[in-house]
Amino acid sequence: MANTVLVTGGAGFIGSHVADRFLAEGWQVTILDDLSSGREENIPSAARFVRGDITTPEAAALVRDGKFDVLCHLAAQIDVRRSVLDPVYDATRNILGTLNLMEAVKASGHATRTIFSSTGGALYGDFDPPPSAETLAKDPEAPYGIAKLSVEYYLAYYGRVHGLDTVALRYGNVYGPRQDPHGEAGVVAIFCNRLLDGRALTVFGDGTQTRDYVYAGDVAGANFAAATRALPPRGRLDARAFNIGTGIETSVNTLAETLRQGSGATAPIDYAPARAGELARSALNTAKAREVLGWQPTVSLQDGLQRTYEFFAARRAKASA
Ligand SMILES: NC(=O)c1ccc[n+]([C@@H]2O[C@H](COP(=O)([O-])OP(=O)(O)OC[C@H]3O[C@@H](n4cnc5c(N)ncnc54)[C@H](O)[C@@H]3O)[C@@H](O)[C@H]2O)c1
Repeated sequence: MANTVLVTGGAGFIGSHVADRFLAEGWQVTILDDLSSGREENIPSAARFVRGDITTPEAAALVRDGKFDVLCHLAAQIDVRRSVLDPVYDATRNILGTLNLMEAVKASGHATRTIFSSTGGALYGDFDPPPSAETLAKDPEAPYGIAKLSVEYYLAYYGRVHGLDTVALRYGNVYGPRQDPHGEAGVVAIFCNRLLDGRALTVFGDGTQTRDYVYAGDVAGANFAAATRALPPRGRLDARAFNIGTGIETSVNTLAETLRQGSGATAPIDYAPARAGELARSALNTAKAREVLGWQPTVSLQDGLQRTYEFFAARRAKASA
């Protein structure tokens, strides 16, 4: 019988790539998503789709009775600014919603491996020079990162105290086809759409701020590796946490220039005042994912940006046809 996976947030940007990857590997895929930011068109036709909210008893029943081999938990409120404006909303979905699912895994009595989509970009703060290793002190700047870190503590607790099989993947700035402008790497989607509109690319600050951009298909590969590999023993917070990025710092200026060159568009770059609370530098040390998960990124920034730009161009062409 095929292995089974429940992908929460599978109608979203990264979750739909995760679903695609498991389907390609011959797994039976169920998607749970409330379509709050996801799109029905992202859901692969071979997946079973359940529309629902992770905070509800119905979602808990799906997890409890489904006895899935793997739970890839991506459903979340992903807007960092919204988490600042409304931390209660953020915590309700990102902390309580996850606890609802974890209690259901516990109640199922089944050895479901839970893979949580955490963040590297919003966890380590700005106190040490990058690349950040998993064991670095955590100082999230916003309720969004605080919620991700809180969930990681809960996962470690469920592992230690209840023997549940849990993993946290801490992503860098994920970009690629189907991405939404509101996520952590939203700038790539925004720049692509600006180029297609023939409008200027707006860079906040001097554009030297850096991020670790990782392609969505590679992040899906990391989820698959985390689902199928032997993992280290459960223990402290970081024991089963893995940074998923490239380890490369890319400035916003380089990102804008690479996209302009790849697209052949001549849009100018506008500079606007720096935004408060933005990190100056960020990149992730991914040695642990290479060693333990046997995972490494395969798509270069240039190729990934090209594929992303072409996706948005094709979506436009389809919409106007
Ligand atoms: N995009 C990034 O760069 C990045 C970086 C680090 C971590 N992450 C994490 O990866 C995950 C996926 O992010 P994304 O960028 O694909 O965002 P996304 O908004 O495209 O995907 C989130 C999905 O979850 C669904 N959802 C939200 N709340 C829900 C709820 N209460 N019940 C059911 N479904 C719900 C949405 O409809 C959407 O389809 C999130 O957990 C996010 O925090 C993303």
